[in-house]
Amino acid sequence: MLTRRAVLAPIVLGAASFAARPFPSSGPNTFKHGLGTMAASRGRLYGCATSTYQLRDSDFVRALEREATILVAEYEMKRAALQPEPGDYDFTAADALLHFARAHGMAFRGHTLVWHKANPPWLPDALSTRNENLLTGYIQAVAGHYRGQMHSWDVVNEAIAPGAAGNLRETLWLKAFGPNYIDLAFHAARAADPNALLVYNDQGCEAGGANNDRFRAATLDFLERAKARGVPIDAYGMQGHLQAFGTAVDQRKLRDFLERLKALDLRILITEHDVDDSGGPSDIAVRDRAVADASRRFLDVALDNSAVGAVLTWGLSDRFLDFAGWHAMLKGYTPRMLPLDGAFARKPLWNAIAAAFLSAAPAGRAAGR
Ligand code: G3I
Repeated sequence: MLTRRAVLAPIVLGAASFAARPFPSSGPNTFKHGLGTMAASRGRLYGCATSTYQLRDSDFVRALEREATILVAEYEMKRAALQPEPGDYDFTAADALLHFARAHGMAFRGHTLVWHKANPPWLPDALSTRNENLLTGYIQAVAGHYRGQMHSWDVVNEAIAPGAAGNLRETLWLKAFGPNYIDLAFHAARAADPNALLVYNDQGCEAGGANNDRFRAATLDFLERAKARGVPIDAYGMQGHLQAFGTAVDQRKLRDFLERLKALDLRILITEHDVDDSGGPSDIAVRDRAVADASRRFLDVALDNSAVGAVLTWGLSDRFLDFAGWHAMLKGYTPRMLPLDGAFARKPLWNAIAAAFLSAAPAGRAAGR
């Protein structure tokens, strides 16, 4: 039986200095409990985006098994991967990711049913017919294929553009079906997979700048109107992409925004958290500390809201961030945006996320919902 003390002791000891350095040598790189265990001690899930090519790395799989209790496909559940040709569906890679998650007792998120990116090349022309089945038929096929197996679906991703007509991004979907494409998508998803959480997923509301103020206002207006129309949106997915050396999170503005989402009876998922360390010095310790501090500043507020049920990082290890090594060549560094380094050792960001989970208020619903 994993007691809270067994989990808390080494973490809290290390957490006190989390921003300065990774845990003492006896700390987290040997500490057998992962972030998912700490999240679970507060009724939450922790996980990350992953891909089938990453699952071929056995060291990575060991780290993933230790840390994650929920997974999401980084790109293999997007339409370009699932429907390369009209009418044909290829679920092979997505099925493999789902089977891995289920075999390891992990939850699984679907990302994403409707987006203006990562679509197959034939889709834009096909949409000139304005045939709604190109939208609803795809959702029925995909969400139907995974019916009853998903924690949640990102039904619509990144539809808001503050200042555009109706604050909606001018996408191929808006052009084909008007603003109603959002309602059509959520109703189709509810019908296809009635027990999954249906999520509107976006970014732009995390940091404190004037653009983010506009994004928060537009997002709240969008969600309030959608809920008033009876659109079955269960949760807001806050992507959580932060900048270590850019505009910081304004904790008061973030807290107020999350409270207003909760007041709309929405759950909140942190769906793609990472901290971009570009613009920082070459000193890795300085970059790691800034990344950890930015994450803690964000998560302390997010996890203080009982509507937040899960935190996913947009990857687990830095190893897969820099395929061609061009960062190292051109910029003299490789990104350090994720909880584990390229050798799967835990970093100050891991400490920060662990400490944020353990010092947080419990979630207000069943684990991760
Ligand atoms: O297709 C190849 C595949 O054959 C190969 O095996 C694999 C490994 O080399 O790479 C695949 O290439 C690309 C893949 O990223 C590598 O992870 C895909 O072609 C490319 O489309 C894909 O880009 C993804 C992008 O969304 C578009 O789908 C990124 O991984 C992913 O990080 C990014 O994620 C988005 C979220 O979905 C929405 N929020 C913003 C976020 C960051 O841009």
